[in-house]
Amino acid sequence: MSGELVPVEELLRLFEAAHWAPSSGNNQPWRFVYARRDTPEWDRFFGLLADGNRLWCSKAAALVVVISRGTRETRDGKTVPARTHSFDTGAAWAYLALQGTLSGLVVHGMEGFDYERAAGELEVPPHHTVECMVAVGRPGRAEDLPERLRAVEHPNERRPVSDVVSEGRFGRGATESA
Ligand SMILES: Cc1cc2nc3c(=O)[nH]c(=O)nc-3n(C[C@H](O)[C@H](O)[C@H](O)COP(=O)(O)O)c2cc1C
Repeated sequence: MSGELVPVEELLRLFEAAHWAPSSGNNQPWRFVYARRDTPEWDRFFGLLADGNRLWCSKAAALVVVISRGTRETRDGKTVPARTHSFDTGAAWAYLALQGTLSGLVVHGMEGFDYERAAGELEVPPHHTVECMVAVGRPGRAEDLPERLRAVEHPNERRPVSDVVSEGRFGRGATESA
C-alpha cells in the first residue's frame, strides 16, 4: 500500500456494499469496527496485529475488525443461536472486498492478530465473535516493500475446481461436461 489516506466517505462505501450481503433470515449478523490511520484509535487497532502484518499494515489507510453476532431473535422474542452467523459475515466481508477492489483500493483479510485482545479492547459484547481483521489502503509499489514481502507479491494460484466440487457425495469429483 502507498500510505495515502482514504477519505471516510470512500471507506463507508465499502461498508455500504458489505451490509447488502445476504444472510439467513436476513439476520445481518455482521458488525464492523474500524480505525483510520490519522485518528487516535489507530494505535489500538495497529497494536493488535502480529508482527508480520504490522510490517505492511503501517501503510494501510484503515484497519477494520469484522465481528459477527452469534445469536438472533425469533418472532416470538426468544434469543437463539444464529447458526450461520460466521458464514453470513464471510459473505459480507467478500462484498466489502469486492467493492474495495472495484474502487481501486487494496483490501486484505488478516487472521494474524490477537483475537482476545481485540474483543476486550474494542468492547465486543457477549455472544459476538471476532472473525477477522481487514486492512484497506491505496495500492503502493512492490519495489517499496521489504525484500521478503516483495518476493511473495504476485497473483496467487487456486487449487483446481475439481478438487473442491463433487457431485452426489463428498470428495467424488464433478461430472465432466460433454
Ligand atoms: C480470513 C483471512 C485471513 C487472512 N490472514 C492473513 C494474514 O494474517 N496475513 C496476511 O498477510 N494475509 C492474510 N490473508 C490473505 C490470504 O493469505 C490471501 O487472501 C490468500 O493467500 C489468497 O491470495 P489472494 O487474496 O492474493 O488471491 C488472509 C485472508 C483471509 C480471507
